[in-house]
Formats: sequence, structure tokens, C-alpha cells
Amino acid sequence: MKIHTTKNYDAMSREAAKIIAAQVVLKPDSVLGLATGSTPLGLYAQLIDKFKNVNLDFSETRTVNLDEYQGLAPTHPQSYRFYMDENLFSKINIRPENTHLPDGLAADPVAECARYDALIRSLGGIDLQLLGIGHDGHIGFNEPGDAFVNNTNLTTLDERTIEANKRFFASAADVPRRAYTMGIGTIMAARKILLLVSGEKKADILKKALFGDITPRVPASVLQLHPDVTVIADKAALSAL
Ligand code: F6R
Repeated sequence: MKIHTTKNYDAMSREAAKIIAAQVVLKPDSVLGLATGSTPLGLYAQLIDKFKNVNLDFSETRTVNLDEYQGLAPTHPQSYRFYMDENLFSKINIRPENTHLPDGLAADPVAECARYDALIRSLGGIDLQLLGIGHDGHIGFNEPGDAFVNNTNLTTLDERTIEANKRFFASAADVPRRAYTMGIGTIMAARKILLLVSGEKKADILKKALFGDITPRVPASVLQLHPDVTVIADKAALSAL
């Protein structure tokens, strides 16, 4: 595991953008696993900048996102499809048909999970998976539990996650209770993993994830077992180490 310390959020975003840009240049048809939330917004802005100013070419790139809320349409402003279109896809030259997320409106959740796993397999797996970490140690929406779940699954969000994500909704009651998430097995099968962490509020959970016991109670701790993880964290996020 490599840990890069940056002085702040902007520097973290710039470092991350260099790694993703290198991946896309070296393998233009890379399969990028993408994340949403606050953490990658600066990175996505940097990638848009590289597309506009240094012609970083996404025309062959494929993407699979980690998760999507159940019950939200792609046009819902808080759906992760909307977030991705708004914050990245519509601003670079990626082909819309090459971008994938679980379908929040799928009628049959079991079939939707199987479809998503089959899709990732059909793309040849994930070359580089971008991750953030939740305050409870979740990656994707794999919440703390008794066992690591391997495959894409429909999960019930923790109260802590609902609390953390209510800032995007009118109230906590509006946050969907369930979400599709890529499983831990799929994330761990990615050839490279890039974990971004910013801010003092993540310091304690980051310390547990990187140096504590490997346990499904702290889902991100499983990353200690992956052979190619790069963590880019700002000083505040590393302040508990
Ligand atoms: C989002 C995702 C989540 C977030 C995590 C941190 O696609 O997979 O695991 O990365 O909840 O969220 P932020 O970045 O908002 O602190």
C-alpha cells in the first residue's frame, strides 16, 4: 500500500487526477470504477480541465460506478447517475453508452445485481477503482456487518450514512434507505485501487481502515489485503496516524 500525503483537498485532487490521466493515456479503453460523494468532486474538476486543456481523451474509456440509490430515477438530482452526468460525463468526451451504474429503478433487484456483475465481467473487470471512505468505514455502500459481501447487492444504509448524506437532500427522511452497491469481492478484484480521503472527520476511521484489524466491521480494512492500493490523503485525514 502506498500512502501519499498532500497538504490539502486541492492537492489531493490534483495528485489523483494525475494517476487517472496516466491510466487513461496508457490504456485508452481502461475500465474505471468511479465513486460519487464530496470527495471526488475536485478530482472530476481536474479531469475536465485536462480534457479541455491538454486533450485528455476519454473516447474509448469505459466506466462502472460503485453504487446507486434504489428508487431514484436517473433524472433525480440526487441520483448518482445525475451526479456523474453533471460532474463529469457531460463535460468530457466519454461516450454515454460506455458509462454504467446500477439501475435504481430496476423492477427486480436480484436480477439487477446479477446484471451488474455480469456487465463488469463482460468489460474484463476493473482496471482502476476509485474509492472514498464513509465515516463508518464503508466503501461503495458496503456497510459494517458480520461478513464481507462479495457481489453487487441491495443494501440497507446505516443510520450514520443517512445522517452523512442528508446534506444532499431536503431532510434525512428523504434519503433513500436502500442502495445498490458493488460488492467487496468486485472492488478487491480491481487491478488497482485509488482511495481518496480528506478532512479531519475521516482521520479516526482512516487509521482503523489502514492499520486496524481486517474486519467486516470496518469494510475498508479489507483493502490491506489488496496488492495495489494507493491512498491519497490530506494532512488532516492523516492526522490520527
Ligand atoms: C459513493 C461511495 C461512498 C463514498 C463515501 C464517502 O459512490 O461509494 O462510499 O465514497 O460515503 O463520501 P464523501 O466523499 O461524500 O465523504
